Amino acid sequence: MPETETVAFPQDRTCPYHPPTAYDPLRDARPLTRIALFDGRPAWLVSGHAAARALLADRRLSTDRTHPDFPAPTARFAAARNRKTALLGVDDPEHQTQRRMTIPAFTLKRATELRPRIQQVVDQRLDAMIAQGPPAELVSAFALPVPSTVICALLGVPYADHDFFEGQSRRLLRGPTAEDTMDARDQLEAYIGELIDRKEKQPEPGDGVLDELVHQRLRKGELGRDEVMSLAIILLVAGHETTANMISLGTYTLLQHPDRLAELRADPALLPTAVEELMRMLSIADGLLRLATDDIEVAGTTIRAGDGVVFATSVINRDEDVYADPDTLDWHRSARHHVGFGFGVHQCLGQNLARAELEIALQTLFDRLPTLRLAAPADEIPFKPGDTVQGMLELPVTW
Ligand code: HEM
Repeated sequence: MPETETVAFPQDRTCPYHPPTAYDPLRDARPLTRIALFDGRPAWLVSGHAAARALLADRRLSTDRTHPDFPAPTARFAAARNRKTALLGVDDPEHQTQRRMTIPAFTLKRATELRPRIQQVVDQRLDAMIAQGPPAELVSAFALPVPSTVICALLGVPYADHDFFEGQSRRLLRGPTAEDTMDARDQLEAYIGELIDRKEKQPEPGDGVLDELVHQRLRKGELGRDEVMSLAIILLVAGHETTANMISLGTYTLLQHPDRLAELRADPALLPTAVEELMRMLSIADGLLRLATDDIEVAGTTIRAGDGVVFATSVINRDEDVYADPDTLDWHRSARHHVGFGFGVHQCLGQNLARAELEIALQTLFDRLPTLRLAAPADEIPFKPGDTVQGMLELPVTW
């Protein structure tokens, strides 16, 4: 392993679609190096593609965030560690049970069946935005409401409550303080708890995932109430925040690459590969976390039991051993093996849905608004800090 100065992780991006320049030493130190977390605690940083896929598939790495040694990237994450997180925060056999119960709603077939509904939501949002503009603020008018409406319909959560749960999700993921994160979690739990109560009282279940969890699993004692609550929260939060960030940052990135955008417009068949390439390039979920439960040999180094391990997807997805000219957006490469949705048993449950939403949202946006452009200088448009899921805070556009 090459020696480097210890880099602090996470750090803010300098350009919203590139890893922070401060991570350059991590790229030089592939596949594995040491980093310092916010509290000065050291951890392993995985930056090589092959090592990342091997380690993300390794059951000796735990995702149990309640373990006192689990690595924390921020103070708010550390404070929230006492609460169990369904799916993403549990190991087998618990994980397998929860995954098996939720996966039928997120298969490729279900995502394909949902496409007409997604198209309808996208069209309605664009109708409203076009009726009121130009200009428009694309995050609030389009990027956020589209996935938020879709996940509400899928879960059986009333979209009328979106201001509330979107606001609490923001606080949960971005603080600013640990108290905010804890309070947001309490508020979401209280909200979902009431929703579960209401669904329990209905004689017939609705057709949402949450209805099914309540009427099938909770009633039969296959899942506890806390587990249903935690599942509902992760599905609701992960189901809208991440995709919203990909739509906003994807739009910004395409507008900053007019040649690539023109190529895509000329040949819409490129869309599915373009979405994969955007996923690779933008790596919005940067810094996946694990705890080693045993000694693990990797690339001539030993990760010791009790060590924290962090996966910098933005760096892994630019490994030049896998992707030639990795900092360039290229619709003709095969970006398929990117780790933008993670890898291994915790690989994104919602990836089929996310892909369908991204394809429909981006294609329809640029089809209906061929003159879409930024309404402010690109370098003045605010984007999210490095310690959360990456995306645009605002996206002023005109057409
Ligand atoms: C473009 C948008 C999305 C991105 C970039 C994304 C990214 C990710 C990543 C990187 C992971 C793995 C985390 C890890 O291993 O530590 C993950 C897991 C997960 N994602 Fe997504 N996601 C997206 C959309 C969605 C959607 C729409 C849902 C819908 C509910 C969703 C639900 C989940 C869940 C439940 C997990 C945990 C799975 C498990 O532990 O078994 N995600 N996502």
